[in-house]
Amino acid sequence: MNASDGWNESAAAWLAQIGEDGDYGRKFVLDAPMLARVAGRGFKTALDVGCGEGRFCRMMQAAGIATVGIDPTQALLDHARALDPNGDYRLRRAESLDVAAASFDLVVSYLSLIDIADLPRALARMIAALRPGGTLLIANLTSFSTASMPDGWTKEPDGTRRFFIDDYLEERAGWVSWRGIRIQNWHRPLATYMTLLLDAGMQLRHFAEPAPTGGDPRKREQYRRVPYFLIMEWQKPAG
Ligand SMILES: C[S@@+](CC[C@H](N)C(=O)[O-])C[C@H]1O[C@@H](n2cnc3c(N)ncnc32)[C@H](O)[C@@H]1O
Repeated sequence: MNASDGWNESAAAWLAQIGEDGDYGRKFVLDAPMLARVAGRGFKTALDVGCGEGRFCRMMQAAGIATVGIDPTQALLDHARALDPNGDYRLRRAESLDVAAASFDLVVSYLSLIDIADLPRALARMIAALRPGGTLLIANLTSFSTASMPDGWTKEPDGTRRFFIDDYLEERAGWVSWRGIRIQNWHRPLATYMTLLLDAGMQLRHFAEPAPTGGDPRKREQYRRVPYFLIMEWQKPAG
């Protein structure tokens, strides 16, 4: 819907970047700990908010969880449906989620909160979709990382690479570009996410800053130097 966030224009480049196995951050940092949080826990139903081309939906389904994926980018959903014709993929924004209240055991946001413009509204809808006692599993860019927009890695005069962050406390949208992808991401201080979830009565059950586990040694070093990702698991009170 929202052409101005760059997702429709970037969909083809995004599909090329993700490929079959996911990009570096997914394949070597996030997939394993995210999957470990969902598999074998007794979850029967899951909602993946901002599912993109559906990779994590397919992974959850392989773990025996019936999954609904929602995303506002048509080309990504088309790809998800092509790879998983029996899957349930719906063109929606998180802010206008219209699933039945209290209908999911698990709601997942895998690197999508940074893409969502109206975070309070989206989180309220995601929490409403959870059954009492249900789990909200979030992988997100850390707020240190999003505070790097637009400069990120820079070079000092002697060639040393530094990661540049600034205006940490200023919530803002910024454009990020790489490999033909140009999208708008949101920087928010970590307290913004935590406060919204705490004020909604959610209970933090798990917090991790996962380390890279392999791949190109230069990438691995980069992902060890900068805190790129966090994983949080929150539980909705049982009633
Ligand atoms: C970084 S991608 C992550 C996709 C997928 N979860 C993955 O990990 O591969 C962010 C996704 O959020 C979606 N998105 C953007 N705005 C959104 C919104 N308001 N509500 C839900 N999803 C949104 C984009 O279309 C995109 O597919």
